[in-house]
Amino acid sequence: MSFPATRLRRLRRTGALRALTRETRLSPESLIYPLFVDAAAQQPTPIASMPGQYRHPVGTLPALARDIVDRGIGSVMLFGLPLEKDEVGTGAYDADGVVQRAVQEIKSAQPELIVITDTCLDEYTSHGHCGVIVNGDVDNDATLELLARTAVSQAAAGADMVAPSDMMDGRVGAIRCALDESGFAALPIMSYAAKYASAFYGPFRDAADCAPQFGDRRSYQMDPANRREALREVELDLAEGADIIMVKPALPYLDIIADVHRAFSVPVAAYNVSGEYAMIKAAAQQGWLDERATILEILTAIARAGAQMILTYHALEAAEWVEHSDARPS
Ligand code: PBG
Repeated sequence: MSFPATRLRRLRRTGALRALTRETRLSPESLIYPLFVDAAAQQPTPIASMPGQYRHPVGTLPALARDIVDRGIGSVMLFGLPLEKDEVGTGAYDADGVVQRAVQEIKSAQPELIVITDTCLDEYTSHGHCGVIVNGDVDNDATLELLARTAVSQAAAGADMVAPSDMMDGRVGAIRCALDESGFAALPIMSYAAKYASAFYGPFRDAADCAPQFGDRRSYQMDPANRREALREVELDLAEGADIIMVKPALPYLDIIADVHRAFSVPVAAYNVSGEYAMIKAAAQQGWLDERATILEILTAIARAGAQMILTYHALEAAEWVEHSDARPS
């Protein structure tokens, strides 16, 4: 049946009809708010390249966690800035490390808030790479043991989930094995499975002070030109025991999110990264974009592609907007 019998505009005529037929809805509990916890900070310190985001001291986390819960946001993802860095990222698996202390504070203040920890070494290494350096490159197998130790120490601190973001081969299996041996068989792993070597991480590296001191991350993160390889990464991580699969970045990689969602019956997360956030903030500050409408459109598009949870620095503001259906893209 075609025109004039078929008129797609019939269901677009009013806000109520559009709401009735809307295919994608956002909810605060599917947002994951990434937080930077800084062992050296005395008070929340603004991050210049990410307006509205801060490096938080451990002490102010309980109040922040309460605000997050009040807004209906279901989870946070923690990144740590240690007091000291070294060649092997000791701060990452220190029982008294900044993330371990942050987890304890948040969980005792807000037990129902899901606390996910980024499991990686780059914020803790003096060279800024995600693993141990041998002969000028990141050594895969030597890094696995340190990642496993990091995950176990985060679990011991009370984390609800660990999220390896290093892109070493075999890390999910190594972490799964170590968690199981340490009595954490019930702890899920969210794997940054398809993580691309992206320029969109620039502001994060300022925020977390983890820019590589030499070279780049292209020998371990994925080539942005590759699509089919993402499915291999996901397949391997699932075989090693990953529970949730992440695609990162989000907006320039909607095709990858859609492919993963179609190919595997597992929960898919997408990371709306620091550079995606900074672009919107910068344009909005200039008055060049309607900030609220743009953010809602972006988050809706990421969800529409197939992400059922979204890590986003917009979480605090977006949680309020998505609560009201009239604030959804109309
Ligand atoms: C590595 C890590 C990075 C991000 C999350 N985890 C940086 C990188 O791989 O260079 C980037 C997140 C963002 O840009 O918002 N631990």
